[in-house]
Amino acid sequence: MKTTELKTEFCRVYGGAPDDIRLFSAAGRVNLIGEHIDYCGGRVFPAALNLRTVVAARKRPGSKEIRLAATTLPDRVTLNIDTLDAYRGLKWGDYQAGVAYVMREAGFAVGGCELLYDTTVPFGSGLSSSASIEVATARMLCAFSGEAGGKTADLVELAVLSQRAENTYNNVACGIMDQFAASLGKKAHAILLDCKTLAYQYIPLDLGRYSLVIANCNKSRSLIESKYNERRAECEQALSLLQTRLPGITCLADVSPEDFEKNQAVLAGKVADRARHVVGECARVAESARLLQAGNIEAFGECLNQSHRSLKDLYEVTGVELDALAGAAQAFDGCIGSRMTGAGFGGCTVSLVESGRAAEFAKFVTDRYQKAVGYAPTFYQTSVEDGAKELYE
Ligand code: GLA
Repeated sequence: MKTTELKTEFCRVYGGAPDDIRLFSAAGRVNLIGEHIDYCGGRVFPAALNLRTVVAARKRPGSKEIRLAATTLPDRVTLNIDTLDAYRGLKWGDYQAGVAYVMREAGFAVGGCELLYDTTVPFGSGLSSSASIEVATARMLCAFSGEAGGKTADLVELAVLSQRAENTYNNVACGIMDQFAASLGKKAHAILLDCKTLAYQYIPLDLGRYSLVIANCNKSRSLIESKYNERRAECEQALSLLQTRLPGITCLADVSPEDFEKNQAVLAGKVADRARHVVGECARVAESARLLQAGNIEAFGECLNQSHRSLKDLYEVTGVELDALAGAAQAFDGCIGSRMTGAGFGGCTVSLVESGRAAEFAKFVTDRYQKAVGYAPTFYQTSVEDGAKELYE
């Protein structure tokens, strides 16, 4: 929705004039490579998208209520600031409640406000709609806290607070990648983020004669949280077994491919496969960053293909639909790499496609995918943009 329309809609929902409405925005993200390794201390390589959440906000001085509404849903929710702990498990609004709760606990001055959310990140797409909502909320609450003479925070701290909210309030054991990208993304750059130390570096997303194409396999995701948490538990098991041989390691990302080969005998079955994915994926991220900076986009594309294969065969988070979608993309002569992005089990793929051939690519992939799966994928018009910010328009 355009910002003028959003303000008009805000006045329709809450009344009053548009003058004191503020706008805060945070991004959805695509992860280029480095999947399922953020919670293993690995380096990941996400970028923030033009698919985003904008929250239109107005302070309500003296009020104890945070009112929530959305442009795309009929739901209306009122949160009482003194009982923020009580809104876990809401159908809609619990991400906002979680962030408000965690920030209040952390000492921010959380006050009454009216909020209208406008999200263009498709829900359940694996492009981090939840992180974009959390970080937009955190960015807004932080600004209002500072203006009320309370605590403020930088964008890294806001990402960490948002992740804490999702972990402790929404019971999703996610890593830091999504909130970090939603918060710290930079136009035309990818973020090379070390999830162990939170050190990060912006790498220009110069893809030469190729462009990123993001496609949704449109499979409805189910049981994703339990499967996600199961993978995390398997990684923790692998870590403690490897630590019996490699006492210096504190996370799976500390294990080099050479050390893994020498010591993998302590692991068996699925746990060995999961750890092998993590170690290999960490190496692929390092290689990808190097290749991208060297302008070797074709070899970077091959890293994407290898990543998908590892997520399919070793980590087992793809499924028929994502495999069909990535497979169709990889079969197109102008596509040099394609992989699932995000948690998997449904959601999106990211592909590197010759610029100017996106429409031809979409047709080719749709035909093949539809034959294999029975319904069509959705393609998004995306660009790489900044993370969280206040909009002055
Ligand atoms: C989800 C989580 C992230 C990350 C990815 C997989 O998006 O929120 O923290 O673990 O899955 O790479």
